[in-house]
Amino acid sequence: MKYFITTAIDYTNGAPHIGHAYEKILADVLARFQRLRGREVFFLTGVDQHGQKVQQAAEKQGVSPQAFTDQVSQHFLKLWEQLSVSYDAWAATTEEKHRRVVKNILSDLVARDWLYKASYSGHYSIRQEQFLTDKERGEDGSFGPEWGEVVFFEEENWYFRLSRCKEWLLQFLEKHPSFVVPEFRGNELQNAAAKVAGDLCISRPKSRLSWGIEFPFDANFVTYVWFDALINYISFAGYGSEDAAEKAHFEKYWPCDHHLIGKDIMAPAHGIYWPCMLHAIGFADDQMPQLLVHGFWNSRGEKMSKSLGNIVDPKLLTDRYGASALRYYMMRDIVMGRDADFNEERLINRYNTELSNGLGNLVQRTLSMVFRYRAGNLSSKSTDAANNCVAPVLASSSMNETLVEKASSCCAPSTPCSSSPSATLKTDFKNVTLSASFESHRQADLASIKEYCEQMETSQVHAALETIVNLLYRANAFVDTTAPWKLAKDSAAADQLDGVLITLLQSARVAASLLMPIIPVASEEILRQLALEPISLVGDIAIPAFPQNYVAGQPTPVFPRIVVEESQ
Ligand code: MSP
Repeated sequence: MKYFITTAIDYTNGAPHIGHAYEKILADVLARFQRLRGREVFFLTGVDQHGQKVQQAAEKQGVSPQAFTDQVSQHFLKLWEQLSVSYDAWAATTEEKHRRVVKNILSDLVARDWLYKASYSGHYSIRQEQFLTDKERGEDGSFGPEWGEVVFFEEENWYFRLSRCKEWLLQFLEKHPSFVVPEFRGNELQNAAAKVAGDLCISRPKSRLSWGIEFPFDANFVTYVWFDALINYISFAGYGSEDAAEKAHFEKYWPCDHHLIGKDIMAPAHGIYWPCMLHAIGFADDQMPQLLVHGFWNSRGEKMSKSLGNIVDPKLLTDRYGASALRYYMMRDIVMGRDADFNEERLINRYNTELSNGLGNLVQRTLSMVFRYRAGNLSSKSTDAANNCVAPVLASSSMNETLVEKASSCCAPSTPCSSSPSATLKTDFKNVTLSASFESHRQADLASIKEYCEQMETSQVHAALETIVNLLYRANAFVDTTAPWKLAKDSAAADQLDGVLITLLQSARVAASLLMPIIPVASEEILRQLALEPISLVGDIAIPAFPQNYVAGQPTPVFPRIVVEESQ
């Protein structure tokens, strides 16, 4: 079984921001989860290095475009390392391998009459690097600020026969509703596809843009940056290679299971140009990839932009709070496909409430009790005895309410809030039932693992995290319902105490295992301290038996609380 995931390649005309980081983390989480499921994963990401904006930015700095883009790409590479983004291949569009594939595709398309040269006069947006039509005019007839500087000129260019694909695309979208996930984005795409008119200009004359891939049959032109960039998804997967191993790699992984892109680049680039390009190149309908379209992180209720000065810097946040805090927040506080507002207070709150109090506390207090009451060891005798004894049943319904209040200060499940700027996390315990026996607790954990897997398979990472938070809440409440400190005072309750400790260790093990895709470094550290192997997510799901002759690791805080200094 295989899984191919790729993200939109990032423009190298600026530094990475929180939106780029979100997309890479999301792809990384899905890739890590698929690896844990036993699938062979190919995770591709990289940088989009050509185009007018890069050329202009390099000119401003007085360096060559290649030197400029190499330097900016370093920021992306370093950040992905700092955030543990586990990509398998790096797509940099200035690489010779990619340039060769783009040129070969252009030669093949011109030979099969998919390209033609024509003269066109019209308005051109320098910022968006495209010709504008009347469709792009606002109500007052002018082009809006999103297009930046707009100039009028006439020039000759190469065109791709996009209009020839229109009927095919409409039928394809009709027959393949899962081409785009989530579904509501698919509907948006169908509307956009119905409006396709004319062909796509895919060249830029060298007289005004030299920083691009030269046309192999017309040296006066370079390739339009989108036409070049989209091809990265196949060129870096092995398509068009002479090398047998690379060819086999492509055969094995294509079509891509998920192209991860933001909503801004679905139509027209990924939802219209890209499938039409693949169709023209000769890919069959069942060889089309799937687009997974995510929403946007806004800042203070507005789209992030340099001009508004509200760009959120992921490097700064990672330096300040650590990769786990940022990864966790970015996966927890946005609903897949929807927008969210970035809020640093909520990041701190999520971390303190759910990671520090919820998971960290469970691990610390469980291991401390194993040392305090059992000198860090649980022998095979205690494991057997614990397996056969009945848990203390303390959770009456009235007690449940008190415990819910108590546990809420530890770790409260809550709905991810995608818009509220408030840092107060809403508490909702409706879905959590406190367990009254070892077996019912174990069964509830097992059900959580299955629920989590279903949610992750459908890329609902926010929902999968809600499942884990519920599990942590249940485990922390179990400590209170079973009161191990009381059991420790009663020699007749020794087996029950062993049972409580083992149940808690197993719950912490499950939580850390399920969090491995989201916070890999912290999860590994927790499992090391627990001295337990992660549970396997391959094949049928089961919680492995607790080891005979268990020796605990030393507890050390993995999520030290973030303390915010009161501002004067
Ligand atoms: N270079 C093109 C993609 C070419 S792919 C063949 C591009 N680059 S980008 O740097 O502008 O954006 C990279 C990705 O980050 C895109 O998927 C984009 O949607 C995403 N995001 C950019 N800003 C974002 C937010 N504020 N929030 C979430 N994702 C955002 O487009």
